Amino acid sequence: MKVYVCGSLNYDLVTFTDRIPDAGETYRANKFETHAGGKGLNQTIAVSKLLSADQGVKVSMIGHVGDDSFAGELIEILNRNGVDTRLVTALKGVNTGVATIIVEQRTGQNRILISEGANGHTKFDENHLEVMFPPESQGEGPFYVIFQNEIPGTISAMRWLKQNRPESVIVYNPSPFKDVERGDWSLVDLLVVNEIEALQVLESGFGAAVMAEYKSKINVDFVAGYKEVAINLQSKLISGKSSSFVVITLGEKGCVFASEESQKAQFVEALRVENVIDTTGAGDTFLGGVVSQLCTNHSLRDSVAFATKASSLSIQRSGAAESIPVHSEI
Ligand code: RIB
Ligand code: NA
Repeated sequence: MKVYVCGSLNYDLVTFTDRIPDAGETYRANKFETHAGGKGLNQTIAVSKLLSADQGVKVSMIGHVGDDSFAGELIEILNRNGVDTRLVTALKGVNTGVATIIVEQRTGQNRILISEGANGHTKFDENHLEVMFPPESQGEGPFYVIFQNEIPGTISAMRWLKQNRPESVIVYNPSPFKDVERGDWSLVDLLVVNEIEALQVLESGFGAAVMAEYKSKINVDFVAGYKEVAINLQSKLISGKSSSFVVITLGEKGCVFASEESQKAQFVEALRVENVIDTTGAGDTFLGGVVSQLCTNHSLRDSVAFATKASSLSIQRSGAAESIPVHSEI
């Protein structure tokens, strides 16, 4: 089994503060840290750390860094976590992706500004795709390919994969959200979104009026409303293939998920965490947790429960990639 992650690598510059300064104001923060980040890198490391060592799954990252000192550090961290980095390309004359992150210390909530740098140079032309996903991999059974929205060209890569490597299982975390053509949602086998993105996907697929309808259901009963959103996205948008899943994370409440087998959506409650330190990368940890279990033949329910535990551990530590727990901790 092989898992590929096509996505961003960022160097995270994280400032912890009691509050966000107003425009024109200078305010004294509490501390500063640097961490490896980027949704692509975080999810890659999450899958790798959350697999148990004896499962023989290979994890490979596809992405771009620049030619500054951040680049080497990020590749080093991937290597140290057992990730194959042969498909991470260093580009001359551009900077590595950087995320400026402000963490509000009272709540652990973050605000993130991204300067995409090398991440923006990703190209998925046919020659590249043939090299990344060689035809030999066919016949070895399914392999997973995970995408987010911090690099360009993801939808065309998904189209190519579905056409040329039908055994690929496409995982999509459309974050930060951007609209895609309605038909393209059916390329997705596993859709993982947070509560805001879920509504954005709904609007993209069915229009603003339908989205507003579900929004009022959510206002009446939060979890029940999101269960309905999950069922709708699974059965009508990502095409209701028997193997397709939708997971919606609901922050401190937990998450809901829908699959065809279950007929209805299910809710998994979050674990109570007393001391939230830094929520950066919690969603990435969750996604990596789900995929690490699904690709080793666990049920969706067990995979989601495992991922819930993994992300609750990650928010009790600072940093994105570094805060991700390993399999034995779960
Ligand atoms: O999902 C968290 C990540 O978003 C951070 O690590 C930051 O780099 C941004 O990409
Ligand atoms: Na964290």
